Amino acid sequence: GFIAGVAAAGRRETAAADTPSATVDVLFGTQTGNAEFLAGELVAGARARGLGGAATALDDVTPERLAAMSHLIVVVSTYGEGEMPDNAGLFWEALQAESAPRLEGLRYAVLGLGDRGYDDFCQAAKLLDTRLEQLGATRLHDRVDCDVEFEEPAAAWTASVLDRLADETGATATAGATTTTAASTAPPAGRTRSPWNRRSPYRSRLAVNRLLSSPDSAKEIRHYEFDLGDSGITYTAGDALAVVPVNDDALVVDFLKQFGASGDEDVEGGRLAEVLSTGREIRIPSKELVADLVERAPSSELASVVAHGDRSDLDSWLWDRDVLDLIRDAGSAAPGLDELLPFLRPLQARQYSISSSPLAHPDRIHLTVASVRYANAHRRYEGVASTYLADRIGEGASDGTAGVYLQPNASFGVPADDDAPMIMIGPGTGIAPFRGFLHERAARGAAGRNWLFFGDQHRRTDFVYEDELTQLGEQGVLTRLDLAFSRDQAEKVYVQTRMREQSRELYGWLEDGAHVYVCGDASRMAKDVEAALLGVIAEQRGHGEDDASQYLADLRRAKRYVRDVY
Ligand code: 2AM
Repeated sequence: GFIAGVAAAGRRETAAADTPSATVDVLFGTQTGNAEFLAGELVAGARARGLGGAATALDDVTPERLAAMSHLIVVVSTYGEGEMPDNAGLFWEALQAESAPRLEGLRYAVLGLGDRGYDDFCQAAKLLDTRLEQLGATRLHDRVDCDVEFEEPAAAWTASVLDRLADETGATATAGATTTTAASTAPPAGRTRSPWNRRSPYRSRLAVNRLLSSPDSAKEIRHYEFDLGDSGITYTAGDALAVVPVNDDALVVDFLKQFGASGDEDVEGGRLAEVLSTGREIRIPSKELVADLVERAPSSELASVVAHGDRSDLDSWLWDRDVLDLIRDAGSAAPGLDELLPFLRPLQARQYSISSSPLAHPDRIHLTVASVRYANAHRRYEGVASTYLADRIGEGASDGTAGVYLQPNASFGVPADDDAPMIMIGPGTGIAPFRGFLHERAARGAAGRNWLFFGDQHRRTDFVYEDELTQLGEQGVLTRLDLAFSRDQAEKVYVQTRMREQSRELYGWLEDGAHVYVCGDASRMAKDVEAALLGVIAEQRGHGEDDASQYLADLRRAKRYVRDVY
């Protein structure tokens, strides 16, 4: 057994209720805020059971502090290709080191968040779970790996872990708390979440749908405004809005035709046409479907790509193929509709970074979204949610509204200190949150300097929000704007090119306490931008690469280097 307070040496949590009988440390690693949200729910649930607890970012915990803990719950998401989230990388490094402490006195449980659509599903959670055990800690509950629709499994796991913890430690619930439901209903301290979610989204009227890029651009970037009406949704600049899409009718009709179905058939989940339209992902094949089709049709083109190529060959082959293409490719070996349905993933809500500030637009949420459309010799392909936004809200049977809900991101927002400088790096639609940040700072009359790096292919066609940015410049809100139009000259110019050109100035801002924000493509841009940032720091400090990494790690720890990348 253990005694209250011992585990949390130097950091006593004072719950509003009675003195807690035991303390659980909840550590989170988050990229978009979901893990942080769940960590808050775990703490609330712990308190409802008479346990003390506090939620802390993984990177804010030193190995020494970890070694002093007795009961630990880790909530961690995975992003990119099996990567740790931004505020867990330092912790993971320390845990892997030979100098990592032994953790014999620690009892722990891990909750993973991820997306089954990717390889390395919940990899960060698996790594932490395994490493903690290697270091001598004892699992107090099996890990759970949650897919994108994490709410229910996470709530069930939370209740189960906390009940076990309460049993083990002999904690007694505070009066009035219902231990089995507290975890899923109690709002985390200091934050509340709007009642809207994937299952019950708010029907928001799409008030504005405007083309931002010019009609002859290679891209189609659009500006949207959603009315918040009486939803009660209050947002913060830097949050995301989830949009619940509806599939393209034309694609649903093609599907029905392919299988000779009318749409009126009863299937699991309702009427077939409805299920295909709002319930299932019918464009992007799941990994399970690919595997099933390879088995069924070993002589298909798909099977040969899988047999002779690696993962990236398969990805690029799949890029301009959808579920219907694969069904046709499988020929007579193709599954029937009832066999296919279980292999279609649930249709997911898509999250977009909000591009407005509530101070400037309290009643509306703005989005800045690129429509995904491309074609090959045979067919046109359209992104599910981006073309739903662009083309299908307000069409046909639609009433001009879309199902939406707020996805708060507590770690991505303007500095609390209005005087702190901001450096924002957001090429393409990565500009979205920074438009919100600038509006926010203008409305607050914040004195801090603001520097934006933005770019896209061509200045003439792709310089979105040019008038607004010019005006913000004239008002003295946007202190510096560095533009990188990649295809306006012979050699490619990217945002990181501009960062390197401004090396001395950039480092000066960092030394002045600037917060650095990156938004946009995770697979290449964000990595290259980080390399450029490290290069700038190394060059200006002149103490080599390790010193630069340390400097950036300190920025990260101080939450002055944060990213919203996808
Ligand atoms: P490109 O398409 O001409 O290569 C928004 O998409 C902008 O980001 C475009 O100008 C695009 O350039 C650019 N971009 C592409 N890859 C990038 C990378 N690795 N780093 C930074 N910007 C990149």
